[in-house]
Amino acid sequence: MTTETQTKQSGNAGGKVKDQVAIITGSGRGIGRAIAEVLLREGARVVISDINAEVTKQTADELNKDGAQVIGVPCNVTDSESVEKMVTEVVAQWGRVDILVNNAGITRDNLFMRMSEEEWQAVIDTNLTSAFKVTKPVLKVMSKQRFGRIINIASTTGVHGNAGQVNYAAAKAGLIGFTKTLALEYASRGITSNAVAPGFIDTAMTQKLSEENINKILDKVPLGRMGSPDDIAQAVLYLAGPGSYVTGHVLEVNGGLYT
Ligand code: NAI
Repeated sequence: MTTETQTKQSGNAGGKVKDQVAIITGSGRGIGRAIAEVLLREGARVVISDINAEVTKQTADELNKDGAQVIGVPCNVTDSESVEKMVTEVVAQWGRVDILVNNAGITRDNLFMRMSEEEWQAVIDTNLTSAFKVTKPVLKVMSKQRFGRIINIASTTGVHGNAGQVNYAAAKAGLIGFTKTLALEYASRGITSNAVAPGFIDTAMTQKLSEENINKILDKVPLGRMGSPDDIAQAVLYLAGPGSYVTGHVLEVNGGLYT
């Protein structure tokens, strides 16, 4: 079946990102998966991609219903070869990439003086250098199309800092600089580049924190609750679809947590 036929049969009548091809890294679970679900609901063709091949397949299978168009392509964002393979496979399947969400990320928290070089490097590699590796081959495709939406998942920590997360803060602050610079370099080609900076979101990443720490953070959230992965996905949808005159922006989605 050709892509065109698949699209016609997809059953997505409307949608803010209809037929657009979206790659979401680290989308096997958590925020990435929620982004995939929202973009699918709005008519996109979605690539589920995670370092964990089994989770990639399972998530893609679960989302692939009601005429949705989903493929699962495992990829380790710290490995250039794996990234090139993933992008090549997506282009072979669908011929284009309209939306890239650099979402894969990890934490290795520690106070600065106790932080090992391994903890520092792992977080910089997975949260920052990964964006360099994934965005490069995707931008080649977007430049030819003269259209693209790059959305990087940063963090409140990258904007305001957070004790115990110097590696993560540096990586996410770096990602914000990356976002703003690409916005300047690629605006003339119809490509926007924005970041979403989530606050405290209920996923596996935060579920590993102690109850005491969770309550301490919640005390600082004016809206009085953790955010949901869907709260972040709605912001991504805006930047991918209706927010076409927005570029170089950092959209903080944090319930008012600004410290
Ligand atoms: P999560 O841990 O639930 O999901 C992250 C996903 O990324 C996992 O499926 C994991 O397998 C995948 N991943 C990890 N390393 C990878 C690699 N090298 N290559 C490909 N995939 C890889 O985390 P969550 O909360 O969904 O986080 C998603 C993004 O949101 C991350 O960039 C995180 O830093 C960011 N974020 C999360 C916040 C939160 O409160 N949960 C707050 C601020 C930002």
